[in-house]
Amino acid sequence: MSVIETRELSKNYGGQQALKGVSVTVEKGQIYGLLGQNGAGKTTLIKILLGIVRKTGGNATLLGEPAGIPDVRRRVGYLPEDHQFPGYHTGYSMLDFSATMYGVSRDDRRRLIPESLEMVGIAPAAHKKIKGYSKGMKQRLGVAQALMHAPDVIFLDEPTDGVDPVGRREIRELMARLKAKGHTIFLNSHLLSEIEMICDRVAILRKGELVREGTVAELTEQKGLFELGLAAGQKFPQEQLRGLGYTVIPSGDLWHVTIKDGQTIDPVVQLIANSGLSLRHLLEKKVSLEDVFMAVAADAPKIAARQGGKK
Ligand SMILES: Nc1ncnc2c1ncn2[C@@H]1O[C@H](COP(=O)(O)OP(=O)(O)O)[C@@H](O)[C@H]1O
Ligand SMILES: [Mg+2]
Repeated sequence: MSVIETRELSKNYGGQQALKGVSVTVEKGQIYGLLGQNGAGKTTLIKILLGIVRKTGGNATLLGEPAGIPDVRRRVGYLPEDHQFPGYHTGYSMLDFSATMYGVSRDDRRRLIPESLEMVGIAPAAHKKIKGYSKGMKQRLGVAQALMHAPDVIFLDEPTDGVDPVGRREIRELMARLKAKGHTIFLNSHLLSEIEMICDRVAILRKGELVREGTVAELTEQKGLFELGLAAGQKFPQEQLRGLGYTVIPSGDLWHVTIKDGQTIDPVVQLIANSGLSLRHLLEKKVSLEDVFMAVAADAPKIAARQGGKK
């Protein structure tokens, strides 16, 4: 059974289409990243799964049950975006308050609160007022709160938004620890690096539409693009290569050569050698998740073109 499954999920706010038929599947133990610019529909998707917002069409299940039924909500943890803790609470008293709300017994709270504070790395500040916490500490306290009742799945909506690089790294390490303990994490973020570093699978949303889905390795795989360079002053045999069916695009002093399915780069190297030219540079190109994101999510035609015909 999948932890999360949406099928053709859609949501209209009045005339505004926030989700346009989104289908994603999250399996147990995964860190699943939903990536997209502000307004792409990430928060809406989480809110539908949690039953905070009603879907307009399609299907959504959480832990095998229709999304939003109260019984399931107890089995999930949630760090909302832009959440605010009252500054007069301490980390400890905040967790005590929220765990009480979740119905965690007093004995369990006594045991779980120090454990959770330790887990997220803010135990030394447990009895200090939240108003003195850094943004990163507040977010980690938020993660502790989402975790306290041992949920089967944790939703983190922009957990590192507004957090400095050190704090971001701490939150990433925390997510890795949670994954190692077998937790399933659904992460919303507009920060590429974080998704790239930590997620097992990634979905990219653009204006409510799912434009890419897969593992980071799948999304960044660039089939058949090579970068070649000749010795200074030599003329690249672009016409001959085009005649053989290769796509050849100049890139500064270098040349991008794209091969088709079934072709290899070997005949290109051969042709260069046979023409008496000297190959000085040969590199198989990879794309970063940022390239993919810029090409598909951010409407950046220049970058899409630079990818040499990759959709
Ligand atoms: N309560 C709401 N009422 C009307 N429109 C909304 C509401 N919540 C979100 N939207 C709109 O839906 C779209 C998706 O928003 P959201 O899910 O918050 O995106 P993200 O989390 O990716 O930034 C945006 O255009 C936003 O303005
Ligand atoms: Mg959001």
